[in-house]
Amino acid sequence: MNKRGFLRTLGGASVGLSLGDVAPLFAEAQGTPPADLASDERFWAGIRAKYKLKPDYINLENGYYSMQPQEVLEAFIARVREVNTEASYYMRTRQYAEKDAVRARLAGLAGCSPDELIITRNTTESLDTVIAGFDWKAGDEAVMAEQDYGAMLEMFDLQARRYGMVNRRVSLPLDPKSDDEIVSLYAGAITPRTRLLMVCHMVNISGHILPVRKIADMAHARGVQVMVDGAHAFAHLEFAIPDLDCDYYGASLHKWLGANLGAGILYVRRDRIEKLWPIYGDKNFADGDIRKLNHTGTHPVHTDLAIMNAIDFHESVGIARKEARLRHLQNYWTRQVRGHARIRLNTPTDPSRSCAIANVGIEGIAPRDLAKTLLEKHRIWTVGIETANVHGVRITPHLFTTTAELDTFVAALKTIATA
Ligand SMILES: Cc1ncc(COP(=O)(O)O)c(C=O)c1O
Repeated sequence: MNKRGFLRTLGGASVGLSLGDVAPLFAEAQGTPPADLASDERFWAGIRAKYKLKPDYINLENGYYSMQPQEVLEAFIARVREVNTEASYYMRTRQYAEKDAVRARLAGLAGCSPDELIITRNTTESLDTVIAGFDWKAGDEAVMAEQDYGAMLEMFDLQARRYGMVNRRVSLPLDPKSDDEIVSLYAGAITPRTRLLMVCHMVNISGHILPVRKIADMAHARGVQVMVDGAHAFAHLEFAIPDLDCDYYGASLHKWLGANLGAGILYVRRDRIEKLWPIYGDKNFADGDIRKLNHTGTHPVHTDLAIMNAIDFHESVGIARKEARLRHLQNYWTRQVRGHARIRLNTPTDPSRSCAIANVGIEGIAPRDLAKTLLEKHRIWTVGIETANVHGVRITPHLFTTTAELDTFVAALKTIATA
């Protein structure tokens, strides 16, 4: 990485980012394996300095959406101004080519072809487009988990009301012993009428990473299509979508990519595009062209364009380093509380089955009350979760989180647990 970092020019408007004062840190880190760099607090302090953090509390709730580094935020604001200045001239001239360039870059990040991917507003729009685009018949079945995200479960329920299809829900164990345990769980819910299986790449309430490829292989062997909810996995874990061999993949970019709010992706494997019904009509594209799914009308185009800047920052850090640091942070605090008499971890013990996100409860304390105490008495921001078998506060550090902040959290948890 040279000192000028990753200056880019898009459509004539310079929206460059610069590594600036952290360039020496990156030069020093070159050649250090990500697993070793993960615990180098000096390096990560340089990344932390890129963010403008609120001093009032320690933010351990970065799963909802991710704060943007200042440079990325400024680049986004510059794009808002630029589009506003050119107004309809921009929309009628440069808009489409520039959005296509973003789509191509995102496809590169996802490891797929640009004609298998569209930019959406978020995971909800992406996955609901698939669920609603299916040609459901009465008696058809879909398989999913109780721990899946509520919006998608409700969308499936809506199809059940509308078409008489049937939804079957499994319940994921908190600490599986093997991939087979999970694969068998999903396999057991499949019947000859099953057409679609939804699976989270990373369960949002527990941080549990599921063996998606093995589940997809099992489902495909039974003639069932697979839709992956990647809201939390994209730009958090190192992978390429085609390696999962799923049929559909949806993700939000305002979570781990650090893009501005209101940005997501939908991947549809080439051979699945034709049969999917679009939600909005569009005669401009053939049935096999994924852009037929993307006619959402006039929208804030700068949200699409500024994804470029978030990718710049993301790539400057590097996905391998990012994943290693986030897993290190989670393991750093969870290993200090695992086994405590009243503390219950709701995240798998095997470190390869989780990354940044973990969930922890204290026996006898409602998650909402625990979150309230953490905020009011210890100035730590989290979120209480009470869904299916997950009862605890979700703890989600980010690249700007320090181990000193996690020490404060661990001390607070132990104080509350022994009170
Ligand atoms: C697993 C999962 N799926 C889907 C969503 C929906 O994401 P969005 O609100 O960005 O559409 C979330 C949001 O937290 C999530 O955690």
